[in-house]
Amino acid sequence: MSTPASLPERSDSDRMSSPTWWRQASVYQIYPRSFADSNADGIGNIKGITSRVPYLKELGIDAVWLSPFYPSALADGGYDVDNYRDVDSKLGTLADFDEMAAALHEAGIKLIVDIVPNHSSDRHEWFQEALASPKNSAARDRYIFRDGLGPHGDVPPADWDSVFGGPAWERIVEPDGTPGQWYMHIFAKEQPDFNWDNPEVREDFLKTLRFWSDRGVDGFRIDVAHALVKDLSAPLPSKAQLEAKSHGADGFVDGTHPFWDRDDVHEIYTEWRKLFNEYNPPRTAVAEAWVHTDRRARYASPEGLGQAFNFDLLQANFDANEFKEIISKNLADAQASGASSTWVFSNHDVVRHATRYGLAESAGSEPSGSETEIMSGQVGKRWLLDGGLREDVNAELGLRRARAASLLMLALPGSAYLYQGEELGLQEVGSEIPDSARQDPAFFRNKGVDVGRDGCRVPLPWTSTGSSFGFGDGCSHLPQPHWFADYSVQSQDGVEGSTLELYRKALKLRSQLQSEEKLEWLPSSSPDVLHFTRPNGWQCVTNFGTAPVALPEGDIAVSSAPVTNGQLPANTTVWLMP
Ligand code: BGC
Repeated sequence: MSTPASLPERSDSDRMSSPTWWRQASVYQIYPRSFADSNADGIGNIKGITSRVPYLKELGIDAVWLSPFYPSALADGGYDVDNYRDVDSKLGTLADFDEMAAALHEAGIKLIVDIVPNHSSDRHEWFQEALASPKNSAARDRYIFRDGLGPHGDVPPADWDSVFGGPAWERIVEPDGTPGQWYMHIFAKEQPDFNWDNPEVREDFLKTLRFWSDRGVDGFRIDVAHALVKDLSAPLPSKAQLEAKSHGADGFVDGTHPFWDRDDVHEIYTEWRKLFNEYNPPRTAVAEAWVHTDRRARYASPEGLGQAFNFDLLQANFDANEFKEIISKNLADAQASGASSTWVFSNHDVVRHATRYGLAESAGSEPSGSETEIMSGQVGKRWLLDGGLREDVNAELGLRRARAASLLMLALPGSAYLYQGEELGLQEVGSEIPDSARQDPAFFRNKGVDVGRDGCRVPLPWTSTGSSFGFGDGCSHLPQPHWFADYSVQSQDGVEGSTLELYRKALKLRSQLQSEEKLEWLPSSSPDVLHFTRPNGWQCVTNFGTAPVALPEGDIAVSSAPVTNGQLPANTTVWLMP
């Protein structure tokens, strides 16, 4: 595809060799176990990713973000790390990793890896050492151990719930066989929280960041970046006391929660930033921080991580007003803090947006779920438990809106984070995953009430036939439904109007059109229409309404649905050039 006539050609390599390449990058998240399997064991692996680098290049993304690939028992899909400086043998070796990094770099694609600093796995050698060591030992101090309450110490130190359900404290058996102390785990019990007041913990993560930076990794995604620093001085507040202090869906807005979003956490990231800046180009970082919007900028500051995920659009309804307010606020915040904004609709923790937008609720004015609800799959619960995806979701409407929303996102200043499979318009998999095949701890810890996040982690369909739709030569670790055939790469490759071709076209155009991080709203003919322009006359118009509207003037560069007779149909986005 050629650059629109009014624009100078800009080379991708110029853009990507700049130290600020990340500011407006298109970043594609790979969930390694579900991307491509090269050895027919049903689990995606590093060599599988390497084999698909040509696909990634053709897609037109700037960077890959790789979810955890470290040795792990997979109690939480790899976010339970046994060893931060190695590759899980189920996924390959360090040599395979180096080969993948080289192939990506050769294709002009940067590599961002996930770092999980809030907790390790319970199989980590430090945690095993802590279990084998006595109370108050140096080994226990790397984690958060406390005595239980009550005369026999059998009451947990606080009645807090873990994010995945069930208590946030687990009792251990002491080395002498007696019931012992409790350790804290915000997530699953296999994920004990580190004690970030311990200097050894801080040093070890600096070592890990250097280890991967030295291997040529370009950046890091920081898991649960807002939970590392904790104030657990006694007496610990009760759940009821915490709820009384929380501002509803906004949660804590003043940094006084015992573990979420405390001000001191930024000292860690200032230290990390110094390390990142020792490299040329400086390593980038993006915080996963589910914090109040007003507190996000601190994670994204140039003296800190540099970027933070903005989940606001992800949580919004498909609604012009909501979108406009969120975009305006986030761009203003980014400008004030010097960060670049980030945008995301789907990831490995949430119901895919092609499905969310097809839920009856999101078609109307039903408010979307809170952070914790969405993260833990609660939003999916509303429909997944009620008889399955195909009956309860208007998949056609969902996909149409998802395409419109994604095309709008790709026109925004800032980075766009994409999740594997969204370029295929993939839907969430629902009741086709039997309980016996489910893997997500959110499902088990909630005793099946919350279906969890497996539905967005089903291995990708590359071909329309075959035992695992081309994912590999064997089966797939989560079952793929028969309708995956219709979404496969093979069925969309080269097909005009397919979601894959839409993403390819939009991503390539975007990388040529991106310039200053500016956006100007233009008046629109209806409250359901958003119309904005970027430098160079690049315009984006989205009709969120149910009736067609007159299309503004301009040449159509790309559209999320067919446009005829000068009308912009419902649930459609177009890019226009002067
Ligand atoms: C990750 C989840 C993970 C959790 C605990 C999250 O924010 O994205 O997938 O379960 O952190 O590590």
